[in-house]
Amino acid sequence: MNQMFKNPFDEIANKRLAANAQTLGEQLANKGMSRRSLLKFSSYIAAIMALPPTVAHAMAEKLAATRRQSVIWLSFQECTGCTESFTRSFSPTLEDLIFDFISLDYSETLMNASGVAAEAARKQAMAENKGKYILVVEGAIPLKDGGIYSASAGESNLEVLKDTAKDALAIIAVGSCATFGGIPAAFPNPTGAVGVDKIIKDKPIINVSGCPPIPEVMTGTISYILSLGKLPELDDLGRPLSFYGETIHDRCYRRPFYERGLFAKSFDDEGARKGYCLYEVGCKGPITYNSCATLKWNGGLTFPIQSGHGCLGCSEPGFWDKGGFYEPVSTHKGEVGKILLAAAGAGVVAGTANAVVMRSRRAQALKRASKKAQSVADNTMLPVNKTSKDTNTDTKGDNDHA
Ligand code: SF4
Ligand code: SF4
Ligand code: F3S
Repeated sequence: MNQMFKNPFDEIANKRLAANAQTLGEQLANKGMSRRSLLKFSSYIAAIMALPPTVAHAMAEKLAATRRQSVIWLSFQECTGCTESFTRSFSPTLEDLIFDFISLDYSETLMNASGVAAEAARKQAMAENKGKYILVVEGAIPLKDGGIYSASAGESNLEVLKDTAKDALAIIAVGSCATFGGIPAAFPNPTGAVGVDKIIKDKPIINVSGCPPIPEVMTGTISYILSLGKLPELDDLGRPLSFYGETIHDRCYRRPFYERGLFAKSFDDEGARKGYCLYEVGCKGPITYNSCATLKWNGGLTFPIQSGHGCLGCSEPGFWDKGGFYEPVSTHKGEVGKILLAAAGAGVVAGTANAVVMRSRRAQALKRASKKAQSVADNTMLPVNKTSKDTNTDTKGDNDHA
């Protein structure tokens, strides 16, 4: 009698295992998709990460030989905005990623399973991919009073993070909550919320900040690791330099107005209607590193400044507690604020002064970036792109770089 009863979860798990044993090249061929689709995918990732076009061919080759990457996505103290953003990636689309390139083995928001079955899926994915899965974390982790303020399935976020991180290959912290504490850490931070890197010290961590991050920055970062088998080059805050290497101000189309000292004084004045610079109504673009001015949002349609609102600085640590969103940066304490105030008053020299401040800040910041992080970024070949035969080799050495 028992032999006649088939557990549907076992069947699904077996199909998934069989699919994951194939390389991506084999899987795409089975679906009637050509290698050209891999090249197209790789070319896009190379383009948005400002890599030489020649890299795309190498990426496509590696992708064809790799297996689908197991990804476990944990959600802690958050608003689900980062997942919402992730699902709106235009290229690669979420479908490209989760149906063709990754195996999203656990995501409380996107998975069908719930309760005991969902927790079992996480444990199973961890056991099957020990040392090889990528852990994505969304949301801050409360530390106060032993971390009792946020829990799921009877375990605190702190316990779940430590448990899941211990066998992860690398961790991607998505959103300003997971990277820097974010809104849950806003003064007076009642739950003692912190980002992932305040807790996990022995794994490579990539910070993809933003509230939320640009969807293509999230999918692009995962795709980069998948197709090149190493972590992208990171800045001093652990963010991929390709996406966080320049300020919004560096690439803002309103910059010529800033250079000429032409500023909107309110959101409905003549200057605002003429598209003048939003610096004086609080734009934090000059001190914010992100790709909004180039990649934009909603498939490259627009970004906050183009829609008439200043940048809030949502990809920078502490943006939630740095004074009013509608106060100019110059009213902030510190070197950047003072120099920008003088520069903005001087009109045409503003851009030059700002560029000097930003370049100097960047140079100092990159110097501060730890040798460990540089080593991970430049040299560590992660075993994610190896075939099943190769992945039997020990991965400990790679993780030890972290
Ligand atoms: Fe929500 Fe922003 Fe936190 Fe993402 S970073 S979970 S969008 S509050
Ligand atoms: Fe653009 Fe803001 Fe810089 Fe003005 S201050 S140029 S609106 S980024
Ligand atoms: Fe955030 Fe500023 Fe971009 S508020 S979405 S970093 S323009």
